[in-house]
Amino acid sequence: MQLFDVYPLFDVTIERGKGAKVWDSNGTEYLDLYGGHAVISIGHSHPHYIEKITEQVSKLGFYSNSVKNPLQQQLAEKLGSVSGYEDYQLFLINSGAEANENALKLASFYNGRTRVLSVEKAFHGRTSLAVEATNNPKIIAPINANNHVTFLPLNDLPAWEREISKGDVCACIIECIQGVGGIRLADKDFMYGLQKLCAAHNTVLICDEIQCGYGRSGKFFAHQHLGVTPDLITVAKGIGNGFPMGGVLISPKFTPVYGQLGTTFGGNHLACAAALAVLDVMKEENLVKNAATVGNHLMESLKSANLPHVVDIRGLGLMIGIELDIPYKEVRSKLLFEEHCFTGCSGTNVLRLLPPLCLTIEQADQFVEKMTRILKPGI
Ligand SMILES: Cc1ncc(COP(=O)(O)O)c(C=O)c1O
Repeated sequence: MQLFDVYPLFDVTIERGKGAKVWDSNGTEYLDLYGGHAVISIGHSHPHYIEKITEQVSKLGFYSNSVKNPLQQQLAEKLGSVSGYEDYQLFLINSGAEANENALKLASFYNGRTRVLSVEKAFHGRTSLAVEATNNPKIIAPINANNHVTFLPLNDLPAWEREISKGDVCACIIECIQGVGGIRLADKDFMYGLQKLCAAHNTVLICDEIQCGYGRSGKFFAHQHLGVTPDLITVAKGIGNGFPMGGVLISPKFTPVYGQLGTTFGGNHLACAAALAVLDVMKEENLVKNAATVGNHLMESLKSANLPHVVDIRGLGLMIGIELDIPYKEVRSKLLFEEHCFTGCSGTNVLRLLPPLCLTIEQADQFVEKMTRILKPGI
Protein backbone atom coordinates (compact mmCIF):
# COMPACT_ATOMS: atom_id res chain seq x y z
CA MET A 1 0.00 0.00 0.00
CA GLN A 2 1.13 3.56 -0.73
CA LEU A 3 0.57 6.52 1.59
CA PHE A 4 -2.07 8.98 0.39
CA ASP A 5 0.31 11.64 -0.83
CA VAL A 6 -1.07 14.92 0.54
CA TYR A 7 2.02 16.29 2.29
CA PRO A 8 4.90 17.97 0.43
CA LEU A 9 7.79 16.58 2.53
CA PHE A 10 11.30 17.76 3.32
CA ASP A 11 13.81 14.99 2.76
CA VAL A 12 14.59 14.72 6.50
CA THR A 13 13.71 12.03 9.04
CA ILE A 14 13.62 13.28 12.60
CA GLU A 15 14.44 10.54 15.07
CA ARG A 16 14.79 12.18 18.44
CA GLY A 17 14.45 15.48 20.26
CA LYS A 18 15.44 17.21 23.48
CA GLY A 19 14.19 20.63 24.57
CA ALA A 20 14.28 22.89 21.49
CA LYS A 21 16.60 20.61 19.50
CA VAL A 22 15.95 17.61 17.25
CA TRP A 23 18.26 15.11 15.51
CA ASP A 24 17.77 13.37 12.17
CA SER A 25 18.55 9.80 11.12
CA ASN A 26 22.14 10.84 10.20
CA GLY A 27 22.70 12.29 13.66
CA THR A 28 22.57 15.91 12.44
CA GLU A 29 21.35 18.36 15.09
CA TYR A 30 18.69 20.99 14.28
CA LEU A 31 17.45 24.01 16.20
CA ASP A 32 13.66 23.72 16.34
CA LEU A 33 11.95 27.08 15.78
CA TYR A 34 8.84 25.28 14.51
CA GLY A 35 7.94 22.92 17.40
CA GLY A 36 6.37 20.44 14.98
CA HIS A 37 3.81 23.14 14.03
CA ALA A 38 3.35 24.75 17.46
CA VAL A 39 2.73 21.39 19.11
CA ILE A 40 5.85 21.05 21.26
CA SER A 41 5.19 23.36 24.19
CA ILE A 42 7.34 22.17 27.12
CA GLY A 43 10.11 20.84 24.84
CA HIS A 44 10.90 17.50 23.26
CA SER A 45 11.29 14.47 25.54
CA HIS A 46 10.88 16.27 28.84
CA PRO A 47 11.73 13.79 31.66
CA HIS A 48 8.63 14.63 33.75
CA TYR A 49 6.39 14.15 30.70
CA ILE A 50 8.04 10.81 29.88
CA GLU A 51 7.70 9.67 33.47
CA LYS A 52 4.02 10.59 33.77
CA ILE A 53 3.00 8.98 30.46
CA THR A 54 5.05 5.86 31.19
CA GLU A 55 3.56 5.56 34.67
CA GLN A 56 0.03 5.93 33.27
CA VAL A 57 0.38 3.49 30.38
CA SER A 58 1.82 0.88 32.68
CA LYS A 59 -1.39 1.14 34.78
CA LEU A 60 -4.12 1.90 32.21
CA GLY A 61 -3.90 3.37 28.72
CA PHE A 62 -7.59 3.78 27.98
CA TYR A 63 -11.05 3.27 29.26
CA SER A 64 -14.21 4.85 27.90
CA ASN A 65 -16.16 7.95 28.89
CA SER A 66 -18.81 5.69 30.43
CA VAL A 67 -16.88 5.48 33.71
CA LYS A 68 -15.33 8.07 36.03
CA ASN A 69 -11.86 9.30 35.06
CA PRO A 70 -10.43 11.37 37.92
CA LEU A 71 -7.58 12.55 35.68
CA GLN A 72 -10.12 14.60 33.67
CA GLN A 73 -11.29 16.33 36.85
CA GLN A 74 -7.69 16.98 37.92
CA LEU A 75 -6.95 18.48 34.52
CA ALA A 76 -10.05 20.70 34.62
CA GLU A 77 -9.06 21.99 38.06
CA LYS A 78 -5.42 22.62 37.16
CA LEU A 79 -6.27 24.29 33.85
CA GLY A 80 -8.98 26.42 35.46
CA SER A 81 -6.57 27.63 38.08
CA VAL A 82 -3.57 28.31 35.81
CA SER A 83 -5.64 30.04 33.10
CA GLY A 84 -7.88 32.10 35.40
CA TYR A 85 -11.04 30.30 34.21
CA GLU A 86 -11.94 28.43 37.40
CA ASP A 87 -15.69 28.85 36.83
CA TYR A 88 -15.57 27.44 33.26
CA GLN A 89 -16.32 23.82 32.27
CA LEU A 90 -14.05 21.59 30.18
CA PHE A 91 -14.95 19.27 27.30
CA LEU A 92 -12.11 17.13 25.94
CA ILE A 93 -11.56 15.88 22.42
CA ASN A 94 -8.58 14.88 20.27
CA SER A 95 -7.67 17.72 17.90
CA GLY A 96 -8.04 21.40 17.12
CA ALA A 97 -10.62 20.90 14.38
CA GLU A 98 -12.75 18.83 16.76
CA ALA A 99 -12.47 21.55 19.40
CA ASN A 100 -13.80 24.19 16.98
CA GLU A 101 -16.42 21.80 15.59
CA ASN A 102 -17.78 21.21 19.10
CA ALA A 103 -17.57 24.89 20.04
CA LEU A 104 -19.63 25.85 16.98
CA LYS A 105 -22.15 23.10 17.73
CA LEU A 106 -22.47 24.26 21.33
CA ALA A 107 -23.02 27.84 20.16
CA SER A 108 -25.77 26.68 17.81
CA PHE A 109 -27.44 24.51 20.48
CA TYR A 110 -27.29 27.57 22.75
CA ASN A 111 -28.96 30.21 20.59
CA GLY A 112 -30.59 28.08 17.89
CA ARG A 113 -28.87 29.98 15.07
CA THR A 114 -26.73 28.79 12.16
CA ARG A 115 -24.78 31.82 10.91
CA VAL A 116 -21.09 32.23 11.76
CA LEU A 117 -18.73 35.19 11.33
CA SER A 118 -15.07 34.41 10.82
CA VAL A 119 -12.00 36.46 9.91
CA GLU A 120 -10.41 36.81 6.48
CA LYS A 121 -7.34 34.49 6.33
CA ALA A 122 -8.65 32.48 9.33
CA PHE A 123 -7.69 28.83 9.82
CA HIS A 124 -9.84 26.75 12.15
CA GLY A 125 -9.28 23.17 10.97
CA ARG A 126 -10.39 20.71 8.31
CA THR A 127 -13.60 19.06 9.57
CA SER A 128 -17.02 20.16 8.33
CA LEU A 129 -17.84 23.35 10.27
CA ALA A 130 -14.23 24.12 11.16
CA VAL A 131 -13.20 24.04 7.50
CA GLU A 132 -16.22 26.10 6.50
CA ALA A 133 -14.98 28.77 8.94
CA THR A 134 -11.52 28.54 7.35
CA ASN A 135 -10.87 31.18 4.69
CA ASN A 136 -9.29 28.90 2.09
CA PRO A 137 -11.60 27.77 -0.74
CA LYS A 138 -9.01 25.18 -1.85
CA ILE A 139 -9.66 23.00 1.21
CA ILE A 140 -13.45 23.43 1.39
CA ALA A 141 -15.05 20.49 -0.42
CA PRO A 142 -18.44 21.09 -2.06
CA ILE A 143 -20.06 19.04 0.74
CA ASN A 144 -18.65 21.54 3.29
CA ALA A 145 -19.75 24.67 1.42
CA ASN A 146 -23.03 25.22 3.23
CA ASN A 147 -23.18 29.04 3.38
CA HIS A 148 -23.01 29.26 7.16
CA VAL A 149 -19.99 31.55 7.26
CA THR A 150 -19.28 35.18 6.35
CA PHE A 151 -15.62 36.29 6.37
CA LEU A 152 -14.86 39.83 7.56
CA PRO A 153 -11.64 41.84 7.85
CA LEU A 154 -9.72 41.63 11.13
CA ASN A 155 -10.06 44.73 13.33
CA ASP A 156 -12.80 46.32 11.17
CA LEU A 157 -15.40 46.72 13.93
CA PRO A 158 -18.05 48.56 11.83
CA ALA A 159 -18.10 45.62 9.35
CA TRP A 160 -18.69 43.17 12.21
CA GLU A 161 -21.31 45.46 13.78
CA ARG A 162 -23.28 45.59 10.52
CA GLU A 163 -23.58 41.79 10.49
CA ILE A 164 -24.03 41.11 14.22
CA SER A 165 -26.77 43.71 14.56
CA LYS A 166 -28.91 41.75 12.09
CA GLY A 167 -29.58 39.49 15.11
CA ASP A 168 -29.07 36.17 13.29
CA VAL A 169 -25.40 35.47 14.06
CA CYS A 170 -24.82 32.29 16.04
CA ALA A 171 -21.11 32.77 16.74
CA CYS A 172 -18.04 34.84 15.96
CA ILE A 173 -14.87 32.76 15.86
CA ILE A 174 -11.47 34.41 15.99
CA GLU A 175 -7.77 33.69 16.55
CA CYS A 176 -6.47 36.71 18.52
CA ILE A 177 -3.15 36.07 16.79
CA GLN A 178 -3.73 34.51 13.38
CA GLY A 179 -1.30 31.67 12.73
CA VAL A 180 -1.78 30.33 9.21
CA GLY A 181 -3.01 33.84 8.27
CA GLY A 182 0.50 35.23 8.84
CA ILE A 183 0.79 36.32 12.51
CA ARG A 184 -1.84 39.08 12.37
CA LEU A 185 -2.91 40.48 15.74
CA ALA A 186 -6.41 41.46 16.79
CA ASP A 187 -6.39 44.84 18.54
CA LYS A 188 -7.81 45.76 21.93
CA ASP A 189 -10.53 48.17 20.76
CA PHE A 190 -11.75 45.69 18.18
CA MET A 191 -11.97 42.78 20.62
CA TYR A 192 -13.62 44.94 23.29
CA GLY A 193 -16.19 46.14 20.76
CA LEU A 194 -16.74 42.63 19.43
CA GLN A 195 -17.34 41.24 22.90
CA LYS A 196 -19.89 43.99 23.61
CA LEU A 197 -21.71 43.40 20.32
CA CYS A 198 -21.82 39.64 20.92
CA ALA A 199 -23.23 40.13 24.42
CA ALA A 200 -25.87 42.59 23.19
CA HIS A 201 -27.10 40.27 20.40
CA ASN A 202 -26.87 36.87 22.15
CA THR A 203 -24.05 35.87 19.77
CA VAL A 204 -21.42 33.47 21.13
CA LEU A 205 -17.80 34.70 21.11
CA ILE A 206 -15.32 31.87 20.43
CA CYS A 207 -11.58 32.45 20.74
CA ASP A 208 -9.54 29.83 18.91
CA GLU A 209 -6.42 29.51 21.10
CA ILE A 210 -5.22 26.34 19.39
CA GLN A 211 -2.06 27.93 18.05
CA CYS A 212 -1.74 31.22 19.95
CA GLY A 213 -2.75 29.80 23.32
CA TYR A 214 -1.33 27.86 26.21
CA GLY A 215 1.47 30.28 27.04
CA ARG A 216 2.82 30.87 23.55
CA SER A 217 1.95 34.59 23.46
CA GLY A 218 3.57 35.30 26.84
CA LYS A 219 0.24 35.18 28.67
CA PHE A 220 -1.65 31.93 29.22
CA PHE A 221 -4.13 32.87 26.47
CA ALA A 222 -3.54 35.42 23.71
CA HIS A 223 -6.97 37.03 24.31
CA GLN A 224 -5.77 37.88 27.84
CA HIS A 225 -3.53 40.56 26.30
CA LEU A 226 -6.73 42.19 25.05
CA GLY A 227 -8.85 42.11 28.20
CA VAL A 228 -11.78 40.09 26.82
CA THR A 229 -13.57 37.03 28.22
CA PRO A 230 -14.78 34.72 25.44
CA ASP A 231 -17.81 32.47 25.92
CA LEU A 232 -15.89 29.51 24.50
CA ILE A 233 -12.13 28.96 24.21
CA THR A 234 -10.71 26.20 22.03
CA VAL A 235 -7.33 24.59 22.71
CA ALA A 236 -5.23 21.78 21.18
CA LYS A 237 -1.65 21.50 19.80
CA GLY A 238 0.63 22.31 22.78
CA ILE A 239 -1.75 21.07 25.47
CA GLY A 240 -0.45 17.52 25.10
CA ASN A 241 3.08 18.42 23.87
CA GLY A 242 2.59 15.95 21.01
CA PHE A 243 -0.01 13.68 22.52
CA PRO A 244 -3.14 14.34 20.38
CA MET A 245 -5.65 16.27 22.46
CA GLY A 246 -8.10 19.15 22.16
CA GLY A 247 -10.43 20.93 24.54
CA VAL A 248 -13.21 23.49 24.80
CA LEU A 249 -13.35 25.77 27.84
CA ILE A 250 -17.03 26.58 28.30
CA SER A 251 -18.48 29.54 30.20
CA PRO A 252 -20.98 28.88 33.01
CA LYS A 253 -23.81 30.24 30.87
CA PHE A 254 -23.83 26.93 28.93
CA THR A 255 -25.69 24.05 30.58
CA PRO A 256 -24.46 20.55 29.76
CA VAL A 257 -27.01 18.08 28.40
CA TYR A 258 -26.34 14.32 28.62
CA GLY A 259 -25.40 12.92 25.21
CA GLN A 260 -25.38 16.26 23.37
CA LEU A 261 -21.61 16.10 22.88
CA GLY A 262 -19.44 13.01 23.04
CA THR A 263 -16.35 11.20 21.80
CA THR A 264 -14.69 7.80 22.16
CA PHE A 265 -11.09 8.89 22.69
CA GLY A 266 -11.46 12.43 24.06
CA GLY A 267 -10.00 12.91 27.54
CA ASN A 268 -8.58 9.38 27.72
CA HIS A 269 -6.24 8.44 30.54
CA LEU A 270 -3.03 8.77 28.57
CA ALA A 271 -3.98 12.13 27.04
CA CYS A 272 -4.87 13.47 30.50
CA ALA A 273 -1.57 12.22 31.95
CA ALA A 274 0.25 14.05 29.13
CA ALA A 275 -1.77 17.25 29.59
CA LEU A 276 -1.28 17.24 33.38
CA ALA A 277 2.47 16.79 32.91
CA VAL A 278 2.49 19.75 30.48
CA LEU A 279 0.82 22.02 33.05
CA ASP A 280 3.21 20.83 35.79
CA VAL A 281 6.25 21.68 33.68
CA MET A 282 4.81 24.99 32.47
CA LYS A 283 4.38 26.03 36.11
CA GLU A 284 7.62 24.55 37.44
CA GLU A 285 9.75 26.09 34.69
CA ASN A 286 7.83 29.35 34.33
CA LEU A 287 7.39 28.73 30.62
CA VAL A 288 4.76 31.42 30.02
CA LYS A 289 7.16 34.03 31.38
CA ASN A 290 9.99 32.47 29.39
CA ALA A 291 7.90 32.78 26.21
CA ALA A 292 7.40 36.49 26.95
CA THR A 293 11.07 37.17 27.80
CA VAL A 294 12.74 35.11 25.08
CA GLY A 295 10.11 36.10 22.50
CA ASN A 296 10.65 39.78 23.23
CA HIS A 297 14.41 39.36 23.05
CA LEU A 298 14.16 37.46 19.77
CA MET A 299 11.91 40.06 18.17
CA GLU A 300 14.11 42.95 19.31
CA SER A 301 17.30 41.18 18.14
CA LEU A 302 15.77 40.44 14.75
CA LYS A 303 14.72 44.08 14.40
CA SER A 304 18.12 45.46 15.36
CA ALA A 305 19.92 43.02 13.03
CA ASN A 306 18.42 45.07 10.17
CA LEU A 307 18.43 42.13 7.83
CA PRO A 308 17.99 42.62 4.10
CA HIS A 309 14.63 41.44 2.69
CA VAL A 310 12.94 41.65 6.12
CA VAL A 311 10.06 44.12 5.83
CA ASP A 312 8.15 43.41 9.04
CA ILE A 313 8.58 41.50 12.29
CA ARG A 314 5.41 41.00 14.31
CA GLY A 315 3.96 38.77 16.99
CA LEU A 316 3.77 38.24 20.73
CA GLY A 317 5.89 35.97 22.89
CA LEU A 318 7.11 32.96 20.95
CA MET A 319 4.67 33.38 18.07
CA ILE A 320 6.58 35.52 15.60
CA GLY A 321 6.15 36.35 11.92
CA ILE A 322 9.05 37.57 9.79
CA GLU A 323 7.68 39.09 6.60
CA LEU A 324 10.07 39.12 3.65
CA ASP A 325 9.96 41.01 0.36
CA ILE A 326 10.82 37.71 -1.37
CA PRO A 327 9.15 34.28 -1.15
CA TYR A 328 10.14 32.45 2.05
CA LYS A 329 10.80 29.22 0.15
CA GLU A 330 14.54 29.59 -0.49
CA VAL A 331 15.22 31.20 2.90
CA ARG A 332 13.37 28.43 4.75
CA SER A 333 15.11 25.76 2.75
CA LYS A 334 18.57 27.28 3.38
CA LEU A 335 17.76 27.59 7.08
CA LEU A 336 16.93 23.90 7.14
CA PHE A 337 19.64 22.38 4.94
CA GLU A 338 22.55 24.80 5.49
CA GLU A 339 21.88 26.13 8.99
CA HIS A 340 20.01 23.10 10.34
CA CYS A 341 17.09 25.06 11.72
CA PHE A 342 13.37 24.33 11.40
CA THR A 343 10.95 27.22 10.84
CA GLY A 344 7.31 27.46 9.79
CA CYS A 345 5.74 29.65 7.13
CA SER A 346 2.55 31.46 6.11
CA GLY A 347 1.24 32.52 2.73
CA THR A 348 4.16 33.07 0.35
CA ASN A 349 6.41 35.58 2.16
CA VAL A 350 6.17 35.04 5.91
CA LEU A 351 8.47 32.87 8.03
CA ARG A 352 6.56 31.76 11.12
CA LEU A 353 8.40 30.97 14.36
CA LEU A 354 6.61 28.63 16.78
CA PRO A 355 9.40 27.15 18.92
CA PRO A 356 9.00 25.13 22.11
CA LEU A 357 8.31 27.52 24.99
CA CYS A 358 11.56 26.46 26.68
CA LEU A 359 13.67 28.16 23.97
CA THR A 360 16.63 29.89 25.64
CA ILE A 361 18.08 33.36 24.98
CA GLU A 362 21.21 31.64 23.59
CA GLN A 363 19.13 29.59 21.16
CA ALA A 364 17.24 32.74 20.11
CA ASP A 365 20.59 34.43 19.44
CA GLN A 366 21.75 31.40 17.44
CA PHE A 367 18.66 31.77 15.26
CA VAL A 368 19.43 35.46 14.58
CA GLU A 369 23.00 34.47 13.60
CA LYS A 370 21.63 31.81 11.24
CA MET A 371 19.24 34.32 9.64
CA THR A 372 22.10 36.82 9.28
CA ARG A 373 24.32 34.26 7.55
CA ILE A 374 21.51 33.38 5.13
CA LEU A 375 20.29 36.88 4.33
CA LYS A 376 23.35 39.18 4.64
CA PRO A 377 25.25 38.05 1.52
CA GLY A 378 22.11 38.68 -0.52
CA ILE A 379 19.82 35.97 -1.76
C1 LIG B 1 -5.68 28.28 14.88
C2 LIG B 1 -5.92 26.86 14.53
N1 LIG B 1 -7.13 26.31 14.73
C3 LIG B 1 -7.38 25.02 14.45
C4 LIG B 1 -6.38 24.20 13.93
C5 LIG B 1 -6.69 22.75 13.61
O1 LIG B 1 -6.06 21.91 14.50
P1 LIG B 1 -5.89 20.34 14.16
O2 LIG B 1 -4.93 20.25 13.02
O3 LIG B 1 -5.38 19.74 15.44
O4 LIG B 1 -7.23 19.82 13.79
C6 LIG B 1 -5.10 24.72 13.70
C7 LIG B 1 -4.04 23.87 13.12
O5 LIG B 1 -3.06 24.32 12.58
C8 LIG B 1 -4.86 26.08 14.01
O6 LIG B 1 -3.67 26.64 13.79
